[in-house]
Amino acid sequence: QRSLLGLKELSKEEIESILDRAAYWEQHPNKVHTAMQGKFAANMFFENSTRTRFSFEVAEKRLGAEVLNFSAAVSSVQKGESIYDTVRTLESMGIDAGVIRLKPIGVLAEIATKIKVPLINAGDGNNEHPTQALLDMYTMRKQFGNLNGLSVSVVGDVQHSRVARSNLWALQKFGAKVRFCAPANMQASDLDVPYVSIDEALKSDVVMMLRVQLERHETGMLNSAESYREQYGLTAERAAKLAEHAIIMHPAPINRNVEIDDELVEHPQSRIFPQMENGVPIRMAVVERALS
Ligand code: CP
Repeated sequence: QRSLLGLKELSKEEIESILDRAAYWEQHPNKVHTAMQGKFAANMFFENSTRTRFSFEVAEKRLGAEVLNFSAAVSSVQKGESIYDTVRTLESMGIDAGVIRLKPIGVLAEIATKIKVPLINAGDGNNEHPTQALLDMYTMRKQFGNLNGLSVSVVGDVQHSRVARSNLWALQKFGAKVRFCAPANMQASDLDVPYVSIDEALKSDVVMMLRVQLERHETGMLNSAESYREQYGLTAERAAKLAEHAIIMHPAPINRNVEIDDELVEHPQSRIFPQMENGVPIRMAVVERALS
């Protein structure tokens, strides 16, 4: 199976082999390789993206693949064409793999049963964002050497977060202790994970802050950015309580001074930009797996 639809169903060994292959690509930092020369990868984004979209493109180009970039905003989706018909169209033109981000939950799994080329999930609704979790785990493994026994607190808008779900399902396979911290109206009823206070969350090896996903909220979910920051934000005052070895993570984009204070984004304990850097070798490993 060369598709990557999620981490929930992927074995620990498969995940480990992707992390190891990413380490190989990180140690071979040529701008461009020839490993995937002559292969075509299509990036199909039906939802906005900066990091995922561009790091897939960088990864594909560094592997020497030919890259097709599809944007829903300037495509026949605007004339009413479905996601399936769009993917099937690109498949019929001979792509070798497709990277897809979309909003509706369940559609990717259904499309994958009808499409023969490998598909890579670049984020589907609030279900999974496997390459984000892989780069998060890669970042943690680089920092701590091992994921077993690591305490990871995921703080914020868990209900809408595909990042929280993919990280939870994958980190648990490695023996990491995952806990959530969220306001009552942003907790996920589908996940059986302990919720802790923000003070308790700060006692972890990894404090992963989540973006408040306003675009997925029903009206009135966030009363005020100020009160959210006061109750659940990683403020400079709270960050001062972190253990010296602890790291701060965030998948980004960031609402500065809402879920995390401006001055903490590039704090010595923050790994937010290294996470983005690690996204390239991770996506090289995932794209290579799909195209090989
Ligand atoms: N972390 C993440 O998925 O960012 P983008 O939405 O910019 O791709």
